[in-house]
Amino acid sequence: MAKRIAVLTSGGDAPGMNAAIRSVVRCGLSRGWVTYGVYSGFKGLISGTIEQLTTRDVGGVIQRGGTLLGSARCEEFKTVDGRELALRNLNQKGIEALVVIGGNGSQTGSYELNMMGFPVVGIASTIDNDLVGSDITIGVDTALNIALEAIDRLKVTASSHQRAFIIEVMGRKCGYIALMSGIAGGAEAITLPEVKTDPEELAVTLRAAYEHGKSHALIVAAEGAEYNAAKLAEYFYANKERLGFSIRSTILGHVQRGGTPSAYDRILASKFGLGAVEAIEREEYGVLVGIKGNQVLTTPLEEIAGKTKQLDPAVIQLAKTLD
Ligand code: F6P
Repeated sequence: MAKRIAVLTSGGDAPGMNAAIRSVVRCGLSRGWVTYGVYSGFKGLISGTIEQLTTRDVGGVIQRGGTLLGSARCEEFKTVDGRELALRNLNQKGIEALVVIGGNGSQTGSYELNMMGFPVVGIASTIDNDLVGSDITIGVDTALNIALEAIDRLKVTASSHQRAFIIEVMGRKCGYIALMSGIAGGAEAITLPEVKTDPEELAVTLRAAYEHGKSHALIVAAEGAEYNAAKLAEYFYANKERLGFSIRSTILGHVQRGGTPSAYDRILASKFGLGAVEAIEREEYGVLVGIKGNQVLTTPLEEIAGKTKQLDPAVIQLAKTLD
């Protein structure tokens, strides 16, 4: 039966979101459904900024980073009053199901809306890769490669000057980007929110590396770690005489979110868009579309809301072995 569905992007943008919107719209249209776009995430749901999307509206976007629908962090949606306003707008347009493309906070919003009786399907999309319910989320691959390129570049200048560089990467309370870019970039050390760091131990390691003739040292710091770039730099500056290396620090920040989506992210997003439309077709609501192993599947939002995915301890161990 023909359906009227809407799609929105919420929270921090992630490269590949446009590919996901395009896939939801085109997979919906191919079933004879009517598809709507909600502008500026949950904020647009509350203000009623909802417009019909045709196949042409999502043409030429697959290679673009960001999100054509815009995104926002919306405090009002966390209130029952805010969500009731959103429900009124959805019902006024006769929309029967909503697809929410976003990360952890956004999928908690999806869960709350679904709990109020509106059919919602989430799509796992965040550079943080902190969502339970998907091994990997849309945007991670691109963000990781941007971080890696920065690490490779910093290593070059670090070697020329016998310096130690701290590079801080995003990820909120999850150290996934730091851990993976640290391994891929051959970092000397990685600080993570999930693992306690002893800065003195780190200073001793750097000193030993210097004495063994190493020409540079690179430390990847997760923004959510106790020892993020600012805290580590503070410690190292205070102890700079015995460190051996002079220290410089770079915070990569939103550069990681702005990239052209990689092939992997475009394909993953396209698959997730189809997965969401198929879930709506089955009338399977209150779920998140993600990937486990090589299979696109759904997980109930109640198993996801408010949780943070754990890092694989074996990979943390590997990073320690390799540094
Ligand atoms: O959730 C994605 C993310 O980029 C986090 O890694 C980061 O902590 C946060 O968003 C930054 O949020 P904002 O763009 O609102 O400053």
